[in-house]
Amino acid sequence: MAGAGPYLQRNIRPNYSLIMKIHNWNNNSRIGLLTAVLLATGIAARSADTNSLKDAYKGHFYVGVAINGRLTSAWLQNPSQPSRDAALVLQQYNQIVPENELKWESVQPREGANGYNWGAADNFVSFGLSNNMYIVGHTLVWHAQTPGWVFQETNLAARGTNEVVAPDAAGANPAGGRRGGRGGGRGGITGPLATREEVLQRMHDHIAAVVGRYKGKIKVWDVVNEALSEGGGNVLHDSSWTQTIGPDFIAKAFEYAHEADPDAILRYNDFNLDTSASKRRNLITMIKGLQAQHVPIMAIGSQTHVSVSGPSFAQEDQALTEMETLGLPIHITEMDVNGAAGGQRNTSADIGANAAATQGGLVDDANRRLAVEYSNLFRAFLKHEKYVKVVTFWGVNDAVSWRASGRPLLFDGNDQPKAAFDAVIKLVTGQTPTGQNPLLQP
Ligand code: GLA
Repeated sequence: MAGAGPYLQRNIRPNYSLIMKIHNWNNNSRIGLLTAVLLATGIAARSADTNSLKDAYKGHFYVGVAINGRLTSAWLQNPSQPSRDAALVLQQYNQIVPENELKWESVQPREGANGYNWGAADNFVSFGLSNNMYIVGHTLVWHAQTPGWVFQETNLAARGTNEVVAPDAAGANPAGGRRGGRGGGRGGITGPLATREEVLQRMHDHIAAVVGRYKGKIKVWDVVNEALSEGGGNVLHDSSWTQTIGPDFIAKAFEYAHEADPDAILRYNDFNLDTSASKRRNLITMIKGLQAQHVPIMAIGSQTHVSVSGPSFAQEDQALTEMETLGLPIHITEMDVNGAAGGQRNTSADIGANAAATQGGLVDDANRRLAVEYSNLFRAFLKHEKYVKVVTFWGVNDAVSWRASGRPLLFDGNDQPKAAFDAVIKLVTGQTPTGQNPLLQP
């Protein structure tokens, strides 16, 4: 099992400046010189800068997107003729993350060294490498989309009780299921739970195999996803991980990941960090505790599944200000802005209850409100760009979004830019894009 990785001998601060340096790849002097020459000669690359998110935000932060296995496998079959979605990804983004292909249930559905399915994950990584993109892995340790065998005692697991367990009626099954729940309980796991040592071993082996396979290629990992409680007395919510390993499952996961790739940036990722002060308090308590133990946690991932009702600029500004006190880079990891009427009622709703969040048709004036909310968010990201190093949209366009009926992205189902795209580009370039969308023409 894991020994103390090299990180553990050091304090978190020295690595922090290294992390910032790695992130600042796009601030290099060559680009600065080129820009100076272009400005001096009056030849500013206007159309490129104003039509692409990655170009418009170059020098500020990476702009990325979550992609699915269909997109990457189609692209690999015929790279010279990219699908419309793939072409959009290549035109707009310089960073990618897989929507599902690296989750435990996808990559290791069965126990043991022969239980891995690498196909879709390999395709994802090949797509990123071939197109020179910054590649993020998501996610190593989560209570959802994880097979039941991970938590079951060995005999049961060995008998082949490997299937992904459906969430129970109360949504309280922490392991398995498409989404799982946030709650505790044993949910659909039948029979005795595995011992702490067994689950630690499985977690170690999974992380060693997955991180090890893509060492040097995947630059950032979501090591632990969604472990925090929403508030109240407990910092962590009850889950199959806390029930089997205990609260130090988080520290162990980071140690194992660091051991498997000492150069990877290791991130803790959660939702509602922008909208809930109590969740942020829990985040700060947990991360400070991990830092005190020299756990190699190197970035905060703030999912940013929000809605057209907020957060306001002031709320996002406040959230980022608080998170910055941890001294770590902040990555906006899964951004979308829900325009469905049902998604406005309660921004702190469990995102596992997504069905309710996409009910009721769109809010009035959805396109304009979407543009306003994205402007608020990006204004805050730019204000905090010393810390905000990656901004990732959760999906290529409205049609493939998990919140499709809330039309939450910058591109519609036909990959046409919406007014929100215009707003986001204009914010940083001062110019209106010259895209194909008639809505965007001056
Ligand atoms: C969470 C997970 C993501 C994705 C979204 C929406 O935020 O981290 O991988 O599953 O839910 O489904």
